[in-house]
Amino acid sequence: MGAPAIPAIAPDDEARSLEISRRIRDEIARLGGAVPFSRFMERALYEPGLGYYEHAAIGTSGDFSTSVSSGPLFGEILARQACQTWERLGLLASPATPTWVEAGAHDGRLAADFLGWLGANRPDIARRVRYLVVEPSATRRGWQARTLARFATQVEWADTIPAFAGILFCNELLDAFPLERHVWDAAGRRWWRWGVAVRDDRFVPCRMEADGVHKAFLEGIPEALLAVLPSGHVVEHSPGAEAWWAGAARCLQKGCLMTFDYGFEEADRFRPGRSNGTLRGYWRHRPAEDVLANPGLIDLTAHVDFGRIQQAGEDAGLTTVSLCTQHRCLSRWMAESVEAGEALTPMTPARMRQWQALSHPSHFGQAFRVLVQERP
Ligand SMILES: C[S@@+](CC[C@H](N)C(=O)[O-])C[C@H]1O[C@@H](n2cnc3c(N)ncnc32)[C@H](O)[C@@H]1O
Repeated sequence: MGAPAIPAIAPDDEARSLEISRRIRDEIARLGGAVPFSRFMERALYEPGLGYYEHAAIGTSGDFSTSVSSGPLFGEILARQACQTWERLGLLASPATPTWVEAGAHDGRLAADFLGWLGANRPDIARRVRYLVVEPSATRRGWQARTLARFATQVEWADTIPAFAGILFCNELLDAFPLERHVWDAAGRRWWRWGVAVRDDRFVPCRMEADGVHKAFLEGIPEALLAVLPSGHVVEHSPGAEAWWAGAARCLQKGCLMTFDYGFEEADRFRPGRSNGTLRGYWRHRPAEDVLANPGLIDLTAHVDFGRIQQAGEDAGLTTVSLCTQHRCLSRWMAESVEAGEALTPMTPARMRQWQALSHPSHFGQAFRVLVQERP
């Protein structure tokens, strides 16, 4: 049997990608020949009305799957865990409001699974809950409002995170922030910023001067490591994701921030096997050969540096409660629900398959980390 055929690009998608390409080319020309990769990624993913996340479907019909798209079990586990946390924080005692803030809600599926479980299992809490979706895009708000029509009285929207007491959650959000790449030049003993230029009507990588903004990050790389680092080694960092997390921490009056994503911890930051960085493009569940081709048509993403996110939260006054694999985190929560005699949800064969996807090391269990930080 041959490999499955690669689907054709739909004419509308191609037209959107061509328009984004045209706009990026104009910007490159205006700026004298190059833009930083972070700017290219920002326009490719988020250009209003055109960018990848203004159109993307997530799941089997899209380009990639997530814990959310694997089925309702993920939202159900989170809803039960939220009840535990709200109780511990004193947010279930009247007149407090149990608040759950979700960022990166995309089409609202997780919110529907979460609120569906609460309504069926904890109607007393479901009546009082405040589910706040932080969503800057009008397009995605429209999708979310449709998915969540039956929960209209429980859901609110905001462009940015307000001051809140409760839990802020995001799944696969931090990996979607535009990132910076820097390439080591061993002979010149210096870093070049990865830029994007145009050659023969195609986007190609180019060298740009490393901006002062990134100096602190690059200066933090130990001398002993630079002495042995081969030329061409790429380091990536995501100032946008770090600033967003620090901002969320400052908005948190009481409670916790919780993020699920693929990534690595501090000790693994400079692992030799990752000398080309972790930037990837995905289209129809396949890795893209060229991350600069077809902007707006493919997903662009990179591993989250959990060491730096953790530091950003701690610098903003949070305490790290846990940083562990998704397998470990969800298994602990499942075990606690069994011990407490609270059957989470009937474990049908479909839910067993979802549990496998969420927790098995070859699916989301091992590569995904869960960071929980709390305002003490
Ligand atoms: C990889 S998708 C994950 C979607 C969903 N959480 C899931 O797990 O299926 C990332 C989502 O985050 C959204 N996003 C990116 N930056 C954002 C921001 N600053 N605030 C809210 N959402 C954002 C993207 O538009 C996209 O919908």
